[in-house]
Amino acid sequence: MCGIVGYVGKNAAQDFLISGLKRLEYRGYDSAGIVTLSENGDATLLRAKGKIANLEDKLSNNKRNDKIGIGHTRWATHGEPSEANAHPHQAGKIFLVHNGIIENYKELKEHLTEHEFKSQTDTEVLAALVNSFYKDGKYPLVNAVVQALKLTKGTYGIAVVTTDNPNEIVVARSGSPLVIGVGHGETMLASDAAALVGHTKQAIYLNDGEVAVITRDNVVIKTLNAEPVSAKVEEIETNLAAIQKGGYEHFLLKEIMEQPESLAETLRGRINEKEGTVRLGGPGLSQEQLRKVKHLVIVGCGTAYHAGLMAGYYIEQFTPEITVESVIASEYRYKNAYIPKDSVALIVSQSGETADTLACLREIKKQGIPTIGIVNAIGSTIAREVDGGTYVHVGPEISVASTKAFTSQVVAMVMFGLTIAQAKGARSGILKPYIDELIKLPAAIRETLDEASEAVRKIAQKYASLEHAIYLGRDTAYPAAMEGALKLKEISYVDANAYAFGELKHGPLALVDERFFEVALLPKGELFDKAISNLQEVLARGGQVIAITNVRDFEMPVRDVIVIKDTIKHFAPLLMNLVMQLIAYYVTVAKGYDVDQPRNLAKSVTVE
Ligand code: M6R
Repeated sequence: MCGIVGYVGKNAAQDFLISGLKRLEYRGYDSAGIVTLSENGDATLLRAKGKIANLEDKLSNNKRNDKIGIGHTRWATHGEPSEANAHPHQAGKIFLVHNGIIENYKELKEHLTEHEFKSQTDTEVLAALVNSFYKDGKYPLVNAVVQALKLTKGTYGIAVVTTDNPNEIVVARSGSPLVIGVGHGETMLASDAAALVGHTKQAIYLNDGEVAVITRDNVVIKTLNAEPVSAKVEEIETNLAAIQKGGYEHFLLKEIMEQPESLAETLRGRINEKEGTVRLGGPGLSQEQLRKVKHLVIVGCGTAYHAGLMAGYYIEQFTPEITVESVIASEYRYKNAYIPKDSVALIVSQSGETADTLACLREIKKQGIPTIGIVNAIGSTIAREVDGGTYVHVGPEISVASTKAFTSQVVAMVMFGLTIAQAKGARSGILKPYIDELIKLPAAIRETLDEASEAVRKIAQKYASLEHAIYLGRDTAYPAAMEGALKLKEISYVDANAYAFGELKHGPLALVDERFFEVALLPKGELFDKAISNLQEVLARGGQVIAITNVRDFEMPVRDVIVIKDTIKHFAPLLMNLVMQLIAYYVTVAKGYDVDQPRNLAKSVTVE
């Protein structure tokens, strides 16, 4: 969603701000802006609707050598995408950028009668509120910020400067991430460490309820109650290559193609091949605790939710004595759900910042249930708030559509399920086939991608003119179908929905006509014949079916078929998902849409 950058130091701030904002483009935005201050406190405010390129156009006539500034990419919430609504917002001598939502902005606005509002945003209300406490420089900026935040309800990550003091930036967070990059003679700020990569490796992650005063050589952090906080400097692990396209036309294709390596990272050091066992250090649960687990709640949104659903099927297969409930975070947080005491909650999030998932984590912790993060972004809020966790280690995922994270989330949760099964004394004969397949999975992914890519590209072009799609699967292939449909709809805008094959005659079969195509997942296994019977019903009604199967001599009269290798049995739907990722990619390319930054969506959903 929105992105924040800031700079104070020895170099031209505009350069860092623009390059930083570009690094955050992937998060989704619809306007952008920066403000820099000269040594005398003259402000240069530039804002533009649309892409950062539009901001750069304005910059060409407004180049400044100012050494301090803040910038923002805005994803519209309050008010349309427009220059007036873009950040930074000004109130008196103050400029402010903000991620999050100020829930009581209307109420606050009523009291800010001296400020002439120029935008429809909640952020301008916050700027005016800070200004009302700043009283034209009578009080230090940081005090004014703290006073204002104490009256504020909602979520925020903010950066504030004043023309009175072109040497410091005041930042604060509550529910919206901020990371401070410590350089030599310069200090940087971003809502996502990606903006800092290549500038510094030293970072301080601000916690909720903290406010910091940043100068070129110093960072002073306090709580909103003025208690001093000693800053913990951490290493940024991401490198430049990980956030560049590396020769691919789109990040999405790069991220699909790097799954053999990213999954290998997820597995690294966690499987003892010789013993055929799984060992996860991160969750931090003793064997005794694992043995007692009877129930798993898996919480996530979007793709992370689908990963939870799929992992749940597997875990219940090999550990029948536990039940798994996979839930949508935005629903679960308001359900007042009672969680049995012998439960463990898995909190699944690529970004580690998703607002609904984070809210669930906090609710679940209140019930005293152990929480385990299945997170990718290192140092993210969820990763820091869970009791224990297993990082999926897939590296930065830049494209809004989540791909490599899904595969690794499923595998990480399966590994967690296996550790429970081991602790409960499951026979190795039951677990071994799964563990053996996990070991083989990265190579099988490579093979599937290599073999299916070109065929999928050709097939996808045939279907690119259709506006509706139905994805079908059973058992573990059902959540895979849900994920396939989500991928297609979010980037190609095709109206794609997934159904369990068995549900077809309960309604969706009525949809089948020439405006639709169907993607049928048909892995070998006990339910294969049943799925084929369901498929017959679709074909009998003229369905235009793309079948994805690992049955070599597949002979159904479908329009197109992608046959993948059958070396992987249990996790075949994960391989089929790769094919669906490629279908979504190539359909979108054929339609000519923005693959990596689909309309209306953001990579990291930090508001409710
Ligand atoms: O960062 P998270 O994994 O918590 O994000 C959850 C969803 O917002 C995310 O998976 C979303 O559905 C993706 N755009 C799907 O590709």
